[in-house]
Amino acid sequence: MKCQVCRGPAIIDVRRHNANFCPEHFLRLCRDQARKAIDEFSMLAPDDRVLVAVSGGKDSLAVWDILGQLGFAADGFYVGLGIGGYSDQSRGYAERFAAERGLTLHVDDLLRDHGFDVPNGSRAAKRAPCSACGLSKRHLFDEAARRGEYDAIVTGHNLDDEAAVLMGNVLHWQTDYLGRQSPHLPAANGFPKKVKPLVRLTERDTAAYCLLRGIDYLVDECPMAVGNKHLSYKAALNDIERDSPGAKHAFFFGFLDRAADRFADSTGETAGVTISPCTRCGAPSSNEICAFCRLAERATEAVPIELGRTRRRARSRP
Ligand code: FES
Ligand code: ZN
Ligand code: ZN
Repeated sequence: MKCQVCRGPAIIDVRRHNANFCPEHFLRLCRDQARKAIDEFSMLAPDDRVLVAVSGGKDSLAVWDILGQLGFAADGFYVGLGIGGYSDQSRGYAERFAAERGLTLHVDDLLRDHGFDVPNGSRAAKRAPCSACGLSKRHLFDEAARRGEYDAIVTGHNLDDEAAVLMGNVLHWQTDYLGRQSPHLPAANGFPKKVKPLVRLTERDTAAYCLLRGIDYLVDECPMAVGNKHLSYKAALNDIERDSPGAKHAFFFGFLDRAADRFADSTGETAGVTISPCTRCGAPSSNEICAFCRLAERATEAVPIELGRTRRRARSRP
């Protein structure tokens, strides 16, 4: 197996490009693909202040590393979700990555700062854990960007993530979500710009990238994601990709090229929704009280005595 660029020994095959690469040229491919996505979707300006949403997993650490290589000044932001040992470990990976490279990592913690964690909060609010988690992360990332005056929030979503989300949205004809599939959501109504530079890379690519760059990341998946529909969509797409290399790319980018604009009118901004500051926290919201404040209220009111116990227990964890 030879590298398609230098003809030296290859260490990885990238079937959707029908090519093999040596370590040096695979790393270059990853950087080039991120650069291409950034340019193609006008994601970032050279002087943008960038905040990377960091989980301690391969994708968020890879995108933080690649942004640095591409010359963007990017800080990281980590949210402690209180998911037992998983959260403790993921925070450790994020902090070590930042410390070893002299990067700035801001840390928020749901329990410490807002009085609930994902397991208890989702139970009390009768929401699926991933739904309470996603809502909390989006809110806290937006708030951190406003607080720190960052221009853009970068996330590590890759092609597998985006194709799986698209598949779920198509299967259920979620037209409002289909209007928001672009890897660049511009700043609007007080929400910062959100971009996904890894959208041209797969999970396998980012795992190989981290290995070759010596980036230590949390391999375990979140224990609360078991049964999450996106995992089954990813598995189905992987089956298709195995027989038709490039199918995921064609599915996702074909949608963006040929169909996404048909759903633009279905998004909140253009469907006549009025956005005003949440009366509790000031975040932009389509309701008087934003979804995060309502979640926090239900999560902390429902079990006031339990919460006190949970807090003490959580603090005494090693
Ligand atoms: Fe959010 Fe698992 S990381 S529920
Ligand atoms: Zn090579
Ligand atoms: Zn609020």
